[in-house]
Amino acid sequence: MKERIEIISGDITQSDADAIVNAANCSLLGGGGVDGAIHMAAGPELLAECRTLDGCRTGEAKITGGYRLKAKHVIHTPGPRWRDGTHGEPELLASCYRSCLRLAAENGCATVDFPSISTGVYHFPLDRAAEIAVRTIAETLEQYPSITRVRMVCFDSRTQRAYADALAAL
Ligand code: APR
Repeated sequence: MKERIEIISGDITQSDADAIVNAANCSLLGGGGVDGAIHMAAGPELLAECRTLDGCRTGEAKITGGYRLKAKHVIHTPGPRWRDGTHGEPELLASCYRSCLRLAAENGCATVDFPSISTGVYHFPLDRAAEIAVRTIAETLEQYPSITRVRMVCFDSRTQRAYADALAAL
């Protein structure tokens, strides 16, 4: 499955993938980081649709339109806030990736771009998050042949190196 996973650097709001994933919070009403950037780029209709979704639990995902984004859909998933690694954080992070890929497949999205979920404001250790992400994506892609490409869109070189190393070690 590794051949269907790519690690790139860039700004996910410029992505032309069928779906981009938003590292949201449970309210789904926007925030800072990539959440703020995606809402800014998508325009106010995104928030209007998010208001109808009644939030989302950590590790789960909900899908909306992409509005002014090139991407057709945004898949919103609240990642776990890092505490000390003994409160289910690793399992919840894996669940984010599984939930997003399932929704992408169910909605006919062949290409999906992810940001580095939980490694910003939520302080999940980067190397551990990268290992969980690439392993979970590779395992989950086996169930969804209709998803032909998944990219990790990394906002800085440290993040890109962590994901490239994790993919190489898979
Ligand atoms: N494109 C791609 N990646 C980005 C972009 C962007 N435009 N902007 C930020 N990132 C990266 C960050 O550099 C980090 O690597 O996304 C990753 C996730 O960081 P955060 O956006 O802080 O997300 P997270 O750690 O999951 O925290 C989520 O932050 O913004 C709030 O509402 C959000 O409460 C939620 C929390």
